[in-house]
Amino acid sequence: MRIGFTYDLKADYLALGFSEHAVAEFDSEKTIDAIAGAIQTHGHDVVRIGHVRALAARLVAGERWDLVFNIAEGVAGFGRESQVPALLEAYGVPYTFSDPLVCALTLHKGMAKHVARGCGVPTPSFTLVTTPAEAAAVTLPLPLFAKPVAEGTSKGVSAKSLATSRAALVEVCTDLLSEYSQPVLVEEFLSGREFTVGILGTGDAAVALATLEVVLLAGADEAVYSYRNKAQWRELVDYKLLLDVGDDASGALRREVEEVALAAWRCLGCRDAGRVDVRLDGSGRAQLIEVNPLAGLTPGHSDLPIMAALKGVDFATLIGEILRCATDRIAAAA
Ligand SMILES: Nc1ncnc2c1ncn2[C@@H]1O[C@H](COP(=O)(O)OP(=O)(O)OP(=O)(O)O)[C@@H](O)[C@H]1O
Ligand SMILES: [Mg+2]
Repeated sequence: MRIGFTYDLKADYLALGFSEHAVAEFDSEKTIDAIAGAIQTHGHDVVRIGHVRALAARLVAGERWDLVFNIAEGVAGFGRESQVPALLEAYGVPYTFSDPLVCALTLHKGMAKHVARGCGVPTPSFTLVTTPAEAAAVTLPLPLFAKPVAEGTSKGVSAKSLATSRAALVEVCTDLLSEYSQPVLVEEFLSGREFTVGILGTGDAAVALATLEVVLLAGADEAVYSYRNKAQWRELVDYKLLLDVGDDASGALRREVEEVALAAWRCLGCRDAGRVDVRLDGSGRAQLIEVNPLAGLTPGHSDLPIMAALKGVDFATLIGEILRCATDRIAAAA
């Protein structure tokens, strides 16, 4: 196949006049090379397209591809991750991963939680705060957790996100509102163990690839998988595959965590591959944190390739599985 590849490369945005800070979260040349290389190992030609504006220009010029491998997250607005899928749908080009509806819904963690909760998926009670006065008026029980409603990579998540007093909640919300210019999601704090579940497939065919426990080490920000912990994971975090051994010999914990993750994945309509974050509450029950339909794919750094490697699935095989899930789904819908 001739596979187009859409992504947000730092250098492309610098060329458009973005600042170094603004491009910090975009993909590096190394990640793009690794994914393109992995696609090629499956016998495909890769056409590097880049960001949504580059895609728009090439579509308008009449270029088409058999499939687009899309990891572009966009720049601004709740629809930023939906822009590439929407444009491809407008031109009838099939693509990997989730559709515009799912990408926008999951980017807005509050909306995603409304839908997940409506489907019966357990997730902490929450509210959205748009002013410091609203933060002061929150009546949910302490301790509470505050984070920007539509960011990733733990942007805006720090030790301060965990608020144990009303005053601390107002303080962290005030800071987040001014720094991120978007509502703050305030929800009940989940005090238990944290897991991230890698998922392959769509609907009933979706399966858990693996479940990783995120174990924070000495020196890490306590109790949260914060921006700092994520960025310095080599020193601060241990990722353990949750296997049916040790304290989970019966596999009951893994089953419960994966059931919550798969229920969220299916009810929100996610496709092909991604990750769902889950934490245990104070009574040890699994609860949904958030769903990632465009999970990071940096080899040796992002959770999905890390868990695949721990399961003995190398990077090229993981990318091959994602392509297989997408082409099977597209063939079934034809
Ligand atoms: N309600 C909560 N209770 C306890 N911890 C939470 C809660 N919500 C978020 N966290 C902590 O904050 C971290 C980041 O939150 P979340 O997964 O929503 O952010 P993200 O930036 O979208 O993550 P990703 O990098 O996976 O896209 C979680 O991994 C978890 O450690
Ligand atoms: Mg997360």
